[in-house]
Amino acid sequence: MARKPKIHVIGTGGTISGAGDTATAGAYQSGAVEAAQLIAAVDGLDRLADVSAETIFATGSENLGPVQWRQLARRIEEVCASNDVDGVVVTHGTDTLEEAAFYLDLVCRANKPVALTAAMRPATALSADGPANLFQAALSISSPHFQGGGVFVVMNTQVIAGWQAIKTSSVALDSFCAYPGGSVARVVGESLMMIGGRQSSPLAGRFHGVLEKDEELPVVDIVALRGGCGDRPLSNANTNDCKGLVIAGFGSGTMPDTLAAEAADMARSGTVVVVSSRVGRVMVSAHSTSTRLDDGVIPSGCLNPQKSAVLLSLALADGLDAAEIAGLFQLFSASSQ
Ligand code: SIN
Repeated sequence: MARKPKIHVIGTGGTISGAGDTATAGAYQSGAVEAAQLIAAVDGLDRLADVSAETIFATGSENLGPVQWRQLARRIEEVCASNDVDGVVVTHGTDTLEEAAFYLDLVCRANKPVALTAAMRPATALSADGPANLFQAALSISSPHFQGGGVFVVMNTQVIAGWQAIKTSSVALDSFCAYPGGSVARVVGESLMMIGGRQSSPLAGRFHGVLEKDEELPVVDIVALRGGCGDRPLSNANTNDCKGLVIAGFGSGTMPDTLAAEAADMARSGTVVVVSSRVGRVMVSAHSTSTRLDDGVIPSGCLNPQKSAVLLSLALADGLDAAEIAGLFQLFSASSQ
């Protein structure tokens, strides 16, 4: 790209756009700073790229979900269709960033790169991390390495394949990392050091069709286990309108015997049940769960409960049955080959 790249920034709120009363206040209001103001505060960004901006949501990411992600995905595709844009940066809250990034990976087919970025400290904080993250996101997608497209998360110098991003700390600047892979690249000053391969998810763009529909995604609940819970989490859960259920089990997907039996009953009576784990870095396989594959319960592979819920709801919206959905989750598991 001989000319300056053209980057469009879409603001959705989050701490990156948060403002507190003082530079040291812990409390702040999400979405108080427009995307245009955010980019104006990034020294050197105008040397790097021609940057335009819009704000489509101004709220904490706890208020965003499939309805807003679909609106965001449609806008990304619209913007990327223009010859006037080389890539898109989305500013977002960190709390549901990993789900938004996975959703975008699964539904978007834009042939230009999309980088989600965020901040652990509000825009008004002493040593706010948002401006550097925004700069690094724009720098990354301006690189020829990313010109084919794809969804990435850029935080704290790390360029992470979007579907692999996980949030590991409530406060640390290095909260985001890649799992199960490593970072794709690292930003060093104004340069990019490529480390890993591109690593699109095995289902990148698979659910593009959802962008043509206006119906809400089917309800998928997550049930989290605690030591000594017995079968209470399922016997007390109101799962009547629930088409799919994700169990955040222990370690590698284990659960109390009585609960495993109840999960198998639910699967037999038509709810699609996926077993993930409450640990930070999940690996649940057919032989590690307390349920058996022939019980109809699906192991989540490396997907944590919240990412499992995203994939399960998209698969259900697509009309897939339990066996077909098991095949999708298998793509995120270790294979015996
Ligand atoms: C949010 O996710 O909107 C709040 C937390 C953050 O952005 O770090």
